Amino acid sequence: MSEKSPILKADDLSMRYEDGVLALDHLNLTVGAGEVYCLLGANGAGKTTTINLFLGFLPPTTGACFINGIDVGKDPLEAKKHVAFVSENVMLYGNFTARQNLDFFAKLGGKPDLDKERYYQVMRRVSLQEKAFEQRVKNFSKGMRQKLGISIAIIKDAAAILLDEPTSGLDPKAAEEFQEILHELKAEGKAILMSTHDIFRAKEIGDRVGIMKEGRLVMERTREELQVEDLVKIYIDYMKSEPLTA
Ligand SMILES: Nc1ncnc2c1ncn2[C@@H]1O[C@H](COP(=O)(O)OP(=O)(O)O)[C@@H](O)[C@H]1O
Ligand SMILES: [Mg+2]
Repeated sequence: MSEKSPILKADDLSMRYEDGVLALDHLNLTVGAGEVYCLLGANGAGKTTTINLFLGFLPPTTGACFINGIDVGKDPLEAKKHVAFVSENVMLYGNFTARQNLDFFAKLGGKPDLDKERYYQVMRRVSLQEKAFEQRVKNFSKGMRQKLGISIAIIKDAAAILLDEPTSGLDPKAAEEFQEILHELKAEGKAILMSTHDIFRAKEIGDRVGIMKEGRLVMERTREELQVEDLVKIYIDYMKSEPLTA
């Protein structure tokens, strides 16, 4: 296991929103290089909040999160250089072509001198169809948008990749292709933290799988453990169990 120096680390992370909702309750987790960590949990469990704290969108109420050893709360700009993000609905400029979107986000991410061939290479890698490269993205399917989203992440070449339900609403073929790309990024040594509702794919790709409930990480299992345990049953049992904050 790559426990030596995790790329992503949440250390006693809590988040209470202004309206008093305790969205995260002393969360601890780590993701090492070449490791995929899948976060499961019902809507409202705190998955997106966790990811948003790593992205520095919000300051935590307690604790800290680290990317490559950089404290996100203390040095958000430096931390952001080491992380790429793919959301459920990737933000793209509809009137720009696929290649123009890549170019825009590459420059924003600090890669000013990539050429057209490099963008084509990345779009081929995620198997976006060739004819879409120079088309405006406003008519793209969800699968095509997600492929472009992961292309943007690949171009950034960050050590950590955060994904918030990236395959929600994708058809099975698009979801399978997306999973393939994640496998490759893992093989390249990226640290990948992904929230998902897809238990089967989480089991397939996750080196570790965590279940969140009411802002707490109530279960964590390694790939090895999940070979002999039934993740669906574990998940359902946690969902059926009594609320933590009764
Ligand atoms: N901006 C916000 N302000 C107040 N409460 C929020 C905000 N965002 C999320 N929450 C609450 O925090 C909890 C966790 O939400 P979230 O992190 O989105 O969970 P998940 O991604 O697992 O569905 C929920 O109770 C949600 O209603
Ligand atoms: Mg969410």
